[in-house]
Amino acid sequence: MTPTARVVLKLGGELLAAPEQRRDVATAIGRLTDGAALVVVHGGGREVDAELAERGIAKRAVDGLRITDAATLDVVVGMLAGRVNTRLVAAACGAGIRAVGLTAADAGVAAVERAAPYTAADGSVVDLGFVGRPHGDAPPALLDTLSSAGFVPVVASIGAGADGQLLNVNADTLAGDLAVRFRAGRLLIAGGTAGVLDPQGGTLSSIDDATLEQLIADGRASAGMVAKLNACRHARRYGVGRVEIVDGRRTCDLDGRAGTRIA
Ligand SMILES: Nc1ncnc2c1ncn2[C@@H]1O[C@H](COP(=O)(O)OP(=O)(O)OP(=O)(O)O)[C@@H](O)[C@H]1O
Ligand SMILES: [Mg+2]
Repeated sequence: MTPTARVVLKLGGELLAAPEQRRDVATAIGRLTDGAALVVVHGGGREVDAELAERGIAKRAVDGLRITDAATLDVVVGMLAGRVNTRLVAAACGAGIRAVGLTAADAGVAAVERAAPYTAADGSVVDLGFVGRPHGDAPPALLDTLSSAGFVPVVASIGAGADGQLLNVNADTLAGDLAVRFRAGRLLIAGGTAGVLDPQGGTLSSIDDATLEQLIADGRASAGMVAKLNACRHARRYGVGRVEIVDGRRTCDLDGRAGTRIA
């Protein structure tokens, strides 16, 4: 990679639960920063679900987007901006990376507005509650400043509306948006599957726009994968050259050797 390469890495929450996992992820982050300006975005669905269960709050989601009432928002903010972000930052710093924890609510990382009612893959229209969507195309100056000074921003997927209301943003959606506005050449979405799977469980090595649409329309991609595919399509459409969904459970795959390339 040339020194000016820019990469956005999205990490799914299930990769970050145990200390050994975070150490592996930190090692992979270290490799990706070699010669590249890296921005990390993470989710934390697994920890949020566990905390909701602990507090007796029911989980509701549509196409991988969490329906977020006030009680759920409290849990999401506490887990993502608190526990998950801080633990990941600590693991990365422990591996010698100059990681800095942020959310999309920090100055100019991402402008977020409350999401309009969502039309689901099955055609139903759903009010998502305190859910935000990135909007606008302002360059993320804070991320540029941090990364040009050698820091690695680690962004939890929480944003704030113009009125200061905190909003839950799907982490894949945020990563796709940031990849475009950070002018990344590469978006790497690492999760807990070996890329995009076909119904037999095999990995689709490459998918074009038409296939991507079909996967969503016929239900072969569902739940959290729908948000991932839409984020990938956004990134490809707006200039990110290399977009991949990879298996983050095996650190080597963060190098992009396995998984699904979005053509
Ligand atoms: N075709 C498919 N291939 C792979 N996974 C799929 C597919 N269709 C649906 N999925 C589901 O999508 C899930 C991934 O999305 P999910 O939101 O659960 O995780 P994540 O985005 O990696 O984590 P987080 O939400 O914490 O950031 C998979 O675990 C799987 O259950
Ligand atoms: Mg997800």
